[in-house]
Amino acid sequence: MSVKFSNPRGTADILPSEIPLWNLLENTSRVLFQRYGYQEIRTPLFEDTFLFKRSLGETAEVVNKQLLGLVSGRAEAGNENGKEAPAFSLRPEGTASVVRAYNQYDMGREEFLSKLFYIGPMFRGERPQKGRLRQFHQIGAEAIGRGADHPLLDAEMIVLATHILKVLGLKDFKVYINSLGTSQDKARFALWLREKLKDKILSLNEECRVQYERNVFRLLDSKDPDCQAMIRELNIAGEHLSSGGAQYFREVCSALDAAGVPYEIAPRLVRGLDYYTHTVFEITSSGLGSQDAIGAGGRYNGLIEQLGGGDRRQSGLLGAIGFALGMERVMLALASQTQLSLPAVATDVFVVCGQEELEPQVFGLVNELRMAGVGAQMDFGRGRPLKKQFEQADRQSAKFVIIYGTDEASRSMVGLKDMSTREQRSVSRDSVVDEVQRLCLKN
Ligand code: HAM
Repeated sequence: MSVKFSNPRGTADILPSEIPLWNLLENTSRVLFQRYGYQEIRTPLFEDTFLFKRSLGETAEVVNKQLLGLVSGRAEAGNENGKEAPAFSLRPEGTASVVRAYNQYDMGREEFLSKLFYIGPMFRGERPQKGRLRQFHQIGAEAIGRGADHPLLDAEMIVLATHILKVLGLKDFKVYINSLGTSQDKARFALWLREKLKDKILSLNEECRVQYERNVFRLLDSKDPDCQAMIRELNIAGEHLSSGGAQYFREVCSALDAAGVPYEIAPRLVRGLDYYTHTVFEITSSGLGSQDAIGAGGRYNGLIEQLGGGDRRQSGLLGAIGFALGMERVMLALASQTQLSLPAVATDVFVVCGQEELEPQVFGLVNELRMAGVGAQMDFGRGRPLKKQFEQADRQSAKFVIIYGTDEASRSMVGLKDMSTREQRSVSRDSVVDEVQRLCLKN
């Protein structure tokens, strides 16, 4: 009995008709990354599970609910809390792997500032819905090093992320920005929140009570309406920031003002991953429903040392900041805003064959054309009627059609038809490759 399979839920096949849009996103980003001085890095699709636990935080949803583990193999690092965990997990994001690579290859020894970018699939065991997949793709950038501890770089990251979106033609996006402050400020923020919520927390559901105990910041993006109402009442307005933390944030904001990038300060924005300090930001687009974050990022100065890097003998503090855009969501946002029509790949020339016996000669001609740099196709229908072959040429948007039948063969000629003007003329077989090459260059 034959069995027909479908792709797993929460994944998507990217079909040939969708590829031009994917290429547009990737190529646009690559051009801009180059302009801003970023170099590409490609890390494995899976890593030691503890890399993610250490960097994103045990209490982050991405880690405690959504890591997709691989059971075979033995992890390199030890199991820190004695719990059973798969040795390796599919990467849920790119930052942890980039920092791991930065430390592993000691990039800071050579470079004052390492600017790295990546484009690729990420995996999270989420409940799939529109804009939320189990395999999705990110375009991300990370700037790490002694030269990365500067508020202008926070601004540059946001400018770069929004520049990519603008060049893609996206109009309706908004940037939300906040500061967690230094790691001491962040600890003070957590204490302040716990103190303010101490008497109210018992009225909330079990999950919120656990979050209160384990990581109070998670309550700030809780989905529970009672919890949301309670958080709103707190009127959080950056009280936790020290003067240094506040000054840093002011410098980021003025640099954004100078660059002309509009933003809104969102005091409740903390982000769901543990590694952030100072600046955090999120970019949203209307028309996407509940999954409206098309990109996000922030500063994570402490992570390099936390993952074993940062040679203390090197002078200066290590800084790090990055962002990631969700490619599927950016595409949904673009589609919700404009009718996208990207040209499919057009064939330069389609050679139709008048007689099955002539197919080897047509094959020879197609090869000559390709060697000369022309995109050439032929029909593999074993002498199908010319009408069908012309239809095939049209489906492939062929710019020219060469007709090769017994009559043409006997005269060492071919018919050459320009599909845009529908004009046809005879050309000698010997000169047709040069002629088509010339015409294609002109086009
Ligand atoms: P994140 O907010 O977890 O941050 O993800 C960044 C973006 O990836 C989101 O804004 C969203 O567009 C997209 N995304 C996340 N999960 C899904 C999903 N299940 N389906 C579809 N799209 C999704 C990070 O990943 C950080 N590593 C960003 C960063 C880089 N911070 C510093 N450097």
